[in-house]
Amino acid sequence: MNIIKHSLAVLGLIAAPAFAANPVNINIDAGKPGPVISKYVYGQFAEHLGTGVYEGMWVGTKSNIPNTRGWRNDVVGALKELHVPLVRWPGGCFADTYHWRDGIGPQNKRPSNVYGDKVEEINAVGTHEFFDLIDMIGADAYVNGNVGTGSVQEMADWVQYMTAEGGSPLARLRIQNGREKPFKVAFFGIGNELWGCGGNMKPDYYANLYSNYEHFLWGSEKSRPKMIASGGSGFDTSWTQVLSKELKDRTIGITVHQYTVPTGKWEVKGRDLRFKEDEWISTLANTLKMEQLVKDHVAVLDRNDPEKKIGLMVDEWGTWYDEAGARSALFQQNSLRDALVAALNFHIFHEHAERVTLTTIAQMVNVLQAMILTDKDKMVLTPTYYTFQMYAPFQDAKSLPLAITDNTSYTLGTTTIPGVSASAARAKDGKVYLSLVNTDPHKAADVAVNVSGTKVNGAAGKVLTSAAMDAHNTFQNPQVIKPAAFSARAAGGKLSIKVPAKAVMVVALEE
Ligand code: AHR
Repeated sequence: MNIIKHSLAVLGLIAAPAFAANPVNINIDAGKPGPVISKYVYGQFAEHLGTGVYEGMWVGTKSNIPNTRGWRNDVVGALKELHVPLVRWPGGCFADTYHWRDGIGPQNKRPSNVYGDKVEEINAVGTHEFFDLIDMIGADAYVNGNVGTGSVQEMADWVQYMTAEGGSPLARLRIQNGREKPFKVAFFGIGNELWGCGGNMKPDYYANLYSNYEHFLWGSEKSRPKMIASGGSGFDTSWTQVLSKELKDRTIGITVHQYTVPTGKWEVKGRDLRFKEDEWISTLANTLKMEQLVKDHVAVLDRNDPEKKIGLMVDEWGTWYDEAGARSALFQQNSLRDALVAALNFHIFHEHAERVTLTTIAQMVNVLQAMILTDKDKMVLTPTYYTFQMYAPFQDAKSLPLAITDNTSYTLGTTTIPGVSASAARAKDGKVYLSLVNTDPHKAADVAVNVSGTKVNGAAGKVLTSAAMDAHNTFQNPQVIKPAAFSARAAGGKLSIKVPAKAVMVVALEE
């Protein structure tokens, strides 16, 4: 009995009676809501890479794996439950050589071509199939066009094909291919990583190209997608600088890509599993660098776009580990550590909700920091999936100012990071949600929560934690790590929450 009580208390499932004399104090100002956290901050990225699309999501109608028009039912069902607001497709670097006409018309007549000089692309998934997927999961579309090897005409034609109402030859072609009504393209990206796989360009050159492309992407005000400019990588703000000056009124966002690499070195990135504690802390410390990165890019935008018309869009982020022995390109396991990486990034994006208006994690299935892993007919949900699920109430919620005082810190060797990270928002259901991360893999954190102007009676939600830093779900054992129910009652007007070691928690406060 004592053992049960003890483990429940460790997991925070019952209000912990003994509370530290010096808790971490969190004060939420519910009376001063800040900017809305766009639902598009919780976007996903699906690229034709490895088994990210084929096998992972698309198996074709003849497959023994249960599917709907080729899309696997298990994956579609899981994505539906996740409330995915946005999907970026078809790349990434894949987009830089993608020719959309290869992916329309009868599937058996579509050409095969080779991507990246080794991977065959069968083009079974093209424009119509992509929209079928996002319609099924209830997401909006962020289509990424090809500047690298495409042309202005090709891109203009694609936008016409997808969005024209009728009366145009391209709309007629779409109708002939089975789609009467135009597709709704919420966002359209003009190129990808132009500084690298997208064409080794300089920002000034791309700024001119962008203007040229954007000029010809015609559409009625109602159906024309919002245009996104492809920006730089990491801390290099030169692309943000040039594009925010040159593309005023021509773009609603400039992208930046930032991955978390445990060692910080691309040559030897670090393992997905069986890592030591030094790579636990370095992964979290490297993730927290997103804060400075966002601040640096936002400072540039604030100078060049004081009207705040241009968003900072982190449309590739997440962990990137060594690929050794991966079952397909960029396949990696996903553990409790990835859950903390996702949650810490969310907190940074929430903090900058005014400017960070869209992000897409790389990627949705089987590639990099994925929500879902598949092996033939088997599917597992990852700790990252559960983190996105727990944070769903933050989509389109009003951010709330939050101050942490007396925070703990977590140190290993020469690295020290804050022990507790937190974020709060008033969600569309009217409730205040509080999310908490405890980065320390050894010690629980005692947190005292105060909401200015309101008496909080309790909190209820979910906690994601485990005994091992690399706890993960496998095809043989898919339930190793998943969220557990958590609740806490206030005593004497004070709400105390014990956040377990190495945990992510999201609770709704009971006012
Ligand atoms: O997400 C994987 C790859 O990383 C993308 O194709 C590319 O844009 C980035 O370099």
